[in-house]
Amino acid sequence: MRAGLTKKGQKELYSKYLYDDLGTALFEAITLLPEYGLTRADLRLLSEHAADLPDHVRNVSVVVELGSGSGEKALRILPHLARLGPLTYCPIDLSGAALIRCQRDLADIPQLTVVPIQDSYIDGLTSASRLRKPDTNMLVLFLGSSIGNFEPPVAEGFLGMVRQNLKPGDVVLLSTDLVKDLGRMLAAYDDILGVTAAFNLNLLQRINRELRANFDLKEFRHKARYDDSEQRIEMHLQSTAAQIVTVNGDFDIELRKGETIWTESSYKFRTTQVRLMAERAGFNCAIQWVDTEWPFAQNLLCAR
Ligand code: AVI
Repeated sequence: MRAGLTKKGQKELYSKYLYDDLGTALFEAITLLPEYGLTRADLRLLSEHAADLPDHVRNVSVVVELGSGSGEKALRILPHLARLGPLTYCPIDLSGAALIRCQRDLADIPQLTVVPIQDSYIDGLTSASRLRKPDTNMLVLFLGSSIGNFEPPVAEGFLGMVRQNLKPGDVVLLSTDLVKDLGRMLAAYDDILGVTAAFNLNLLQRINRELRANFDLKEFRHKARYDDSEQRIEMHLQSTAAQIVTVNGDFDIELRKGETIWTESSYKFRTTQVRLMAERAGFNCAIQWVDTEWPFAQNLLCAR
């Protein structure tokens, strides 16, 4: 955080820091906003295609979900797979509270054992893969277009690391938000109720609380912009005055009026780009299901 806030040029913070308890709750509220079409598109695609999944992934004994949250999306998939035989579901999340909810909400599915893993994605996936029975396959869910929050080379490297934990026959269901009309993309990250603004500003509040800083939240404004050449929405916090913020009595951050702190990138994809990225990471992209209301794709990637 210190490096990002004191560096010359564009100041920045990692977007993963947005998700303390309040940030996680605000993100859940964002998913319900009329302007934020991503989650509804994801759920629609699952409703339409989840029943067909067993035709594409044979003999699954373990389903792993990276960033499961409360498991709302997996709930639409698991009954179709558990009907075919005993199934283990490993939700992986950093939030213990989300995992407890997940275990409770999925408890009633027959033939399903839930094994929550509170860990980072790749370490969690490595642990989960040890639970697979011999000669069976694994299905990995990475939904919500969270891959869009990685820089493109990191996203591809991440998919490559997922691939290293899999074997041929295993499948990844990957969600990606697609490039669409500029007005819709911007509104999704700058909603009229100001929930996304609160989500963004909460990062400064978190730094105040956890690192004893003195950011005055009234002196910052939420900004969302789209960079066309990079195909990404950027979230920034813009300083409305020249100011100096102190962290922990330890170091100062100088901000000019109008200067911004870059807090998140959310990359938007074209379907061909997803296919190419998946292929470079060691997968064949077997199917791309695209939502018609909100351009958004679920990509079925088969480990080669
Ligand atoms: C979690 N992630 C996919 C969200 C997104 O759309 O990039 C995070 C988010 N940021 C602002 N609104 C939602």
